[in-house]
Amino acid sequence: MDRFIIRGGKKLNGSVHTSGSKNAALPILVATLLTDEPCVLHRVPNLRDVRTTLKILEYLGKKIEYRDNTVTVTADGVLKNNLPYELVKQMRASFWVAGPLLARFKVAEIPLPGGCAIGVRPVDIHLKGFEKLGAECEMKAGNVILRAKELVPAKIVLRFPSVRATQNLLMCACLIPGETVLENVAKEPEVDDLIVFLNKMGADIRVGDKGQLIVRGKTALHGAEHAVVADRIESGSYMLAAAATRGDVTVDGCVPEHNSILIEALQEAGFTLGVTPDSVHVHAYDGDIKPVRVRTAPYPGFATDLQAPWMTLMTLCGGTAEVDEDIFENRFMHAPELVRMGAEIVTEKSVARITGVKTLCAAHVQASDLRGGMALVIAGLCAAGETEVERVYHIDRGYENLEQKLTALGADIRRYNPDK
Ligand code: EPZ
Repeated sequence: MDRFIIRGGKKLNGSVHTSGSKNAALPILVATLLTDEPCVLHRVPNLRDVRTTLKILEYLGKKIEYRDNTVTVTADGVLKNNLPYELVKQMRASFWVAGPLLARFKVAEIPLPGGCAIGVRPVDIHLKGFEKLGAECEMKAGNVILRAKELVPAKIVLRFPSVRATQNLLMCACLIPGETVLENVAKEPEVDDLIVFLNKMGADIRVGDKGQLIVRGKTALHGAEHAVVADRIESGSYMLAAAATRGDVTVDGCVPEHNSILIEALQEAGFTLGVTPDSVHVHAYDGDIKPVRVRTAPYPGFATDLQAPWMTLMTLCGGTAEVDEDIFENRFMHAPELVRMGAEIVTEKSVARITGVKTLCAAHVQASDLRGGMALVIAGLCAAGETEVERVYHIDRGYENLEQKLTALGADIRRYNPDK
């Protein structure tokens, strides 16, 4: 298994370009199941989860061409309406195919995705929504079987603004003639980007005055071309890497508005940021990093996906900072690894208390999830000496060309596999 070897203690310097968003690209790729016409998607990051999604589309009967971050999806005969567990277990987000397959075939059989390192990750909100749309949900041998004689438009109030449930129900509702209204929905930029793509495919989705999504379903959608939105979690991670190493870095090709809470938090911590419509410059800063309390929340709140990299920055603050993780129940696995690098962190239920230290020390650590892995990489960039980060496959799920991008910013990081 690949590892990163990082010789830390160098300030990052220069500029880094943001890739297309993983979490926007994945549902948009899945949405191509709603039509047999060709779809062309640009700025699709070359990541493990994207490649898994392409395998899923191929399994279901689509033909894929993927070159230079552009994916062309065409239909290759009749689509299947089920997925094998082998594919679902590689990426739990594969449950997204339920909405489009149910909409197109009135029956879909998808293995129930299990929990993962960060939490139990149930799909009850998806299933409640499908039931409102006229489907019956049956559990059999670990699979969810969705069946409907006829799908009907409905008003659905989500118990919680789940990102993937919002996307799944939206995709399904697009092919149900009549008006479906989704309330208490997720407002993440990745949901907006899916809406833009679906509307390009001929869907009619608009945002109501109370933020509800109003879908006027169609009998068919057509092919479309789209460039995926910039990855706000990647851009935010590089801002945090710049700040933690006391570097001077411009993150370009991003949408600063999507990182506005992070930008405010960094300013509160003492950093000066220069913001243009598509870039953020984190200026070099040698003063004390002020402790800042953050609480993760659905967008536009502080992103749970930036909580772990943020924690690394706070390990170096002058005081005691707090992080409340209010989205996932088990998203502090990076904390004990950061402690092994000299950080002072105490976690209790959903709260982490971080007392800043002067420096982190290099250590042999292990990533247990994607964003927690990035937190360890940033810690390794700060710590003098050689840090070894194991289980890089988690990080490969979400950061395109990570070591190349960091090397271009002056970092000393390389990938190695002890088994090769
Ligand atoms: C998306 O996950 C992202 N993943 C996550 O990013 C991100 O952390 C999360 O949204 C929150 O922003 C993808 O887009 C692939 P949720 P998602 O449904 O949609 C509970 C990363 O690192 N819930 O909004 O699965 C759930 O357990 C990943 O890139 C239910 O209870 O998140 C969680 O506590 C990790 N029942 C909360 O809602 C349901 O039916 C938020 O989950 C669905 C969710």
